[in-house]
Amino acid sequence: MSLEQDLIGKAERREALFGVIGLGYVGLPLAVELANAGFRVLGYDVSQRVVDGLNAGRSHIKDISDAQVQAVLKGGRFSATTDASRLAEPDAISICVPTPLSKFKDPDMSYIVAATEAVKRSLRRGQAIILESTTYPGTTREVMLPALEATGLKVGADFFLAFSPERVDPGNPVYGTRNTPKVVGGITPACARVACALYQPAIETLVPVSTTEAAELVKLLENTFRSVNIGLVNEMAIVCDKLGVDVWEVIEAAATKPFGFMKFLPGPGLGGHCIPIDPHYLAWKMRGLNYKTRFIDLAGEVNTEMPVFWVRKVGEALNDRGRSVKGAKVLVLGVAYKRNIDDLRESPALDIIRLLEQQGATVRYHDPYVASFEENGHQMQSVALTEAEVRAADCVMVVTDHAIMDYAMVKRCAAAVVDTRHVMPR
Ligand SMILES: NC(=O)c1ccc[n+]([C@@H]2O[C@H](COP(=O)([O-])OP(=O)(O)OC[C@H]3O[C@@H](n4cnc5c(N)ncnc54)[C@H](O)[C@@H]3O)[C@@H](O)[C@H]2O)c1
Repeated sequence: MSLEQDLIGKAERREALFGVIGLGYVGLPLAVELANAGFRVLGYDVSQRVVDGLNAGRSHIKDISDAQVQAVLKGGRFSATTDASRLAEPDAISICVPTPLSKFKDPDMSYIVAATEAVKRSLRRGQAIILESTTYPGTTREVMLPALEATGLKVGADFFLAFSPERVDPGNPVYGTRNTPKVVGGITPACARVACALYQPAIETLVPVSTTEAAELVKLLENTFRSVNIGLVNEMAIVCDKLGVDVWEVIEAAATKPFGFMKFLPGPGLGGHCIPIDPHYLAWKMRGLNYKTRFIDLAGEVNTEMPVFWVRKVGEALNDRGRSVKGAKVLVLGVAYKRNIDDLRESPALDIIRLLEQQGATVRYHDPYVASFEENGHQMQSVALTEAEVRAADCVMVVTDHAIMDYAMVKRCAAAVVDTRHVMPR
């Protein structure tokens, strides 16, 4: 029997041992889903804190409960380790490590390179390696393949290599790892067949594409599409502001068109680990090929200017009451980058707070999901959302529209409100 058939058979019988490298927002839900599908899963992370927590039945990711971790631990289907030498054990390894940008907005590939090196050290015949991290087209073939083939093993024959972008949408109550269709591209057709067979038991719909480059680009197209469309409605918000028109009314009415329009909403700017970052991976790659990706750059420009626009609205709201930003008390509601989640990465709230403080405001914040944070050595702690707190502020600014905040009370008690999300009761 060929190694390909052997692995596909192991996947069908759920006998394959799965490794997941990087147990964060992407890796942990994937590990739990694979375990729920009947696989045994070995999670590997460089963080001792993450590994100890998981082995003790504690989840550090809001979308995964402690009970879910405990269930897969108890069933003997999941364990976590920091011991890289154990990566020889799994039949399949999914890599879910971070892919941030450097200070100069160039891809920081160090995590993918480190994970590839860890896999390489114990790579053996019959293993399938699947990269999940969002990255520029060419990464799987140009960065991972040469490193793994330097072991003397041949891709498509001795081991299998594929790219399958993660599409997790943190906080989404409908779509999770299992019911979000998953795109898979292999270095060779055998690699794609093996990767699809491995994910089949855990993922309802698999979408094979012809190459790893196509799979890498699918993810970048999806997130560039969001970034560009958010940039468009953010620009529309600025246009409407200048015209004295309510942008949300315009968008709601446009969205009644049953074809040819898709609703996107303006806001304080982009946040999170994906949409503000991923398009720059493509822009970077294209710069190397002497092509400037204009839509990506323009959307990035408009979206990053939104905090400035909204801070100006705070200034106007204070001005209407004869006050200045300097010396004003501003209460920011919500600092996570989007509603109902606890993730602060790239959150526009951080820019907004910095801008307000630079102009001399005293800023306090409330976020039911972010108890405290530190930014540039500056420590902040969430305050309780009480009538007294709201009354004490010269201006309340809604930055993140968490569902559980009492907007009616805010409306009743606030001297002025700047609502970047259109959640205040009308
Ligand atoms: N968060 C999302 O919503 C989302 C959605 C789709 C795709 N992605 C992509 O998925 C990838 C992972 O993102 P995330 O949000 O899960 O990141 P994360 O920071 O939540 O988790 C990454 C984990 O990897 C670990 N790690 C770092 N280097 C490692 C190494 N060399 N070996 C083992 N573990 C290592 C870290 O300790 C951390 O626990 C990124 O490429 C991201 O762009 C993220």
